[in-house]
Amino acid sequence: MCGIIGYVGTGVGKDGDDAASDGGTIDGVGAIVHKGLRNLEYRGYDSAGVALVGESSGLTVAKRSGEVDGLTVPDVPDATHGVGHTRWSTHGPPTDANAHPHTDCAGDVAVVHNGIVENYEELKAELSDHEFTSDTDTEVIPHLIEEELAGASDEDGEGGDLLAAVRNVEDRLVGSYAICAVREGDDRIVVARRGSPLVLGRGEDAAFVASDVTAFLEHTRDVTYLEDGDVAALEAGDVSIFHHGEPVERAVETVSWEADAAEKGGYEHYMRKEIHEQPSSLRQTLAGRLDVDAGDVDLDVSFPPGFLADLEEIRIVACGTSYYAGRYAAQLFEELAGVRATVEIASEYEFGAGRTPDRTLVVAVTQSGETADTLGAVRRANAAGARTFAVTNTLGSTVTREVDGTAFIRAGPEIGVAATKTFASQVATLAMLAVAVGRDRGALGAADARSVLDDLRGLPGAVQQVLDEEAQVREAAREYQDSEAFFFVGRALGVPVALEGALKLKEISYDHAEGFAAGELKHGPLALVTPETPVLAVLTDGARANETMNNVTEAQTRGAPALGCVSEGEEFGTLDVSFEVPDVGVVEPIVANVYLQLFAYHVANEKGRSIDKPRNLAKSVTVE
Ligand code: M6R
Repeated sequence: MCGIIGYVGTGVGKDGDDAASDGGTIDGVGAIVHKGLRNLEYRGYDSAGVALVGESSGLTVAKRSGEVDGLTVPDVPDATHGVGHTRWSTHGPPTDANAHPHTDCAGDVAVVHNGIVENYEELKAELSDHEFTSDTDTEVIPHLIEEELAGASDEDGEGGDLLAAVRNVEDRLVGSYAICAVREGDDRIVVARRGSPLVLGRGEDAAFVASDVTAFLEHTRDVTYLEDGDVAALEAGDVSIFHHGEPVERAVETVSWEADAAEKGGYEHYMRKEIHEQPSSLRQTLAGRLDVDAGDVDLDVSFPPGFLADLEEIRIVACGTSYYAGRYAAQLFEELAGVRATVEIASEYEFGAGRTPDRTLVVAVTQSGETADTLGAVRRANAAGARTFAVTNTLGSTVTREVDGTAFIRAGPEIGVAATKTFASQVATLAMLAVAVGRDRGALGAADARSVLDDLRGLPGAVQQVLDEEAQVREAAREYQDSEAFFFVGRALGVPVALEGALKLKEISYDHAEGFAAGELKHGPLALVTPETPVLAVLTDGARANETMNNVTEAQTRGAPALGCVSEGEEFGTLDVSFEVPDVGVVEPIVANVYLQLFAYHVANEKGRSIDKPRNLAKSVTVE
């Protein structure tokens, strides 16, 4: 997710140190904002920028794609306040023009934003007389503020008020966001929050605003967390907060975390933080894309006329966790889009005989967009003349430049080497793609589409319900952590989840774990089963629970303990541990997977493993 920092004050830290002493070459406000951006770098980003407001020098903006260290913060000696931003692209690639802050036509108002403005296309259409300079959803905000200020100025003859303008603009935005706005000639930073985090830092002669406290922790530990719907005006040493137009008081809390803990939001590891981020990352994945009533999705992707109708095969290529997301999706493509779908480990992929290139869609699933094996597969598909498509988390990544079309999963940066939230967002995005393809091909009726989209809509809430049961998973992890090996089983949509559950556990705990199609247990793996090898089963909708349970019973008969993720309202009385999975139909196995993620995490944590950076592994594997 994007990072935000804002500062208004004298340019000197609370302890009296000049901010420039911390590695900066400029004094005051610019240095504090720049240091705030450096503090936010851990979140991951592709572009950075600042806007500084000087008493007489007005508004100065600097921004670029690339690293914070490469950003030259302008020297504005009379600056009284400023905002900064690290961008993780969701709308428009990581270019200088798309970096934040964004400004209005006159260059008087600058805005930084975290989140997604879902109705930006509509709003942009209404602003047809404004000059837009980026591809972002964000840019509508400064232009809307400009309109508000101009309208109010006609009425009051005084140029309007930034706070009132932001309040009015906020009413017109659909989506989730945290925004900060500054204006030439105004000594305040005006901020608004709905759905994306925003925290205020309170100093004696200063005020801060940021996406998380790490941005300003060296200056103040006294903070106020804004609530959804809050709008606030920050002045040096003073903060006014409004909710639905009424002034409100919000508590001031003192943060006791050190910077390292604060980066992880108070969690001990990024992986656990990212597991817990899934309700919000999934909301971001789905935002503005589901039209449940119409039974349709808007993924902002297009194919040549007739291509989908004539499609012979979808071939998914991917590695690791992305490969398992692909295996999940292949079943959805067959079921929902009525098209043959196959999945291949990217390093093994060849176009293969007997296929028609112009009737084949090759879909590369890759979180990073940089995995060498997956890029190699895309190049082989391109060379064979197939149409290629990417599902990725990373705008501007290599894969996006080499395929014919892309859908972004919008999960935000993932720092733990073990993929967690991106798996859920990959499957959700692929499920939407399957609905889009099915609708286009006439293979999926509106009522069936509505049912799948309704399941998807329920996914974030269902994941939250599972996260609330973490204590139960921790207890199970403690009980079984010393087992000789762990076997994960499922059928149908439960198979990729079983494989992913095993990968997660082996990756971070270094324990022996294997995933199987449950029906395969009796064809060999059963010989490995003992009282020391727990079996973890996916027993949900979409995973042929009863048949899977028969195979689990075969393992139990050989003494194996059995843990199962079971659909709400169902019961398998012989299980040693039963984790309840809320009812979300075709995406239930994805919710079950959250239990498996937590299980892997807690086993590894009990063993004191290096969870975020497991031995021998890299987040992005850029060699073949
Ligand atoms: O960036 P990608 O999705 O292409 O990465 C693929 C795999 O390297 C990745 O999923 C890997 O398996 C993860 N460490 C699994 O947690």
